[in-house]
Amino acid sequence: MSSTRTIQILPTPADLFDAATEEFVRAGKAAIAAHARFTVALSGGSTPKSLYSLLAAKHAAFDWNHTFLFFGDERHVPPDHPDSNYRMVNEALLTRISVPAENVFRVKAENPDAAAAALNYENELRRFFALQSGEFPRFDLILLGMGPDGHTASLFPGSEGLREQSRLVIANWVEKFNTHRITFTFPVLNHAAQVMFMASGPDKADMVHQILGGKNDPPYPSQLVQAADGTLLWMLDETAAAKLTR
Ligand code: 6PG
Repeated sequence: MSSTRTIQILPTPADLFDAATEEFVRAGKAAIAAHARFTVALSGGSTPKSLYSLLAAKHAAFDWNHTFLFFGDERHVPPDHPDSNYRMVNEALLTRISVPAENVFRVKAENPDAAAAALNYENELRRFFALQSGEFPRFDLILLGMGPDGHTASLFPGSEGLREQSRLVIANWVEKFNTHRITFTFPVLNHAAQVMFMASGPDKADMVHQILGGKNDPPYPSQLVQAADGTLLWMLDETAAAKLTR
């Protein structure tokens, strides 16, 4: 199998989130038609909040009963903390759609032991995907964002987690925030059937150009997401794509 990379540039943030919503629904319908379920890892931060809100507003009738929602990373905080990705997704999406509670797999990041929280989540993935030792889950879709420093999920430049090739989920120490974050590892990200990055706004333009246009040594974390056996889709608005040569 080989990977394909597509870059979609939309005029405005609103166009970006409309297009991302439609792509989410398309991928979901295809997955459910193909194998009776849609497994998605949601991204955190602020960018995807508009996608989640649009999904709730326009696609309440989507087949959420056959959709299984995971989190590609989580901050090391309780689920009601302002920084919690779960809290953001819960407010923007989960409280507004009829997804069965058992279809939502929250990272138990309230555990003071971040490594234990990561291992717990990894075991949930192993159980759900019925993985043999050494196997990685194949998500139908993994949503990702990109920080201005080139990080994705909670895989930050210079962090130990960049080298992890056997674990599925780790507690990655993030020096700049002086905290652990719980995150999927690259083998999980790169095993997905489809990865969809979303980047919006001028503060991302420099890094988008570095990631999509340049060769960097060492590569930025977002460059290491290649979806080796799937499709890699970058969805950008004009301001985030402003420095790309077209
Ligand atoms: C997180 C995300 C992180 C995010 C980028 C971009 O937990 O914050 O997983 O990787 O996608 O930091 O964040 P913004 O969308 O807020 O710019």
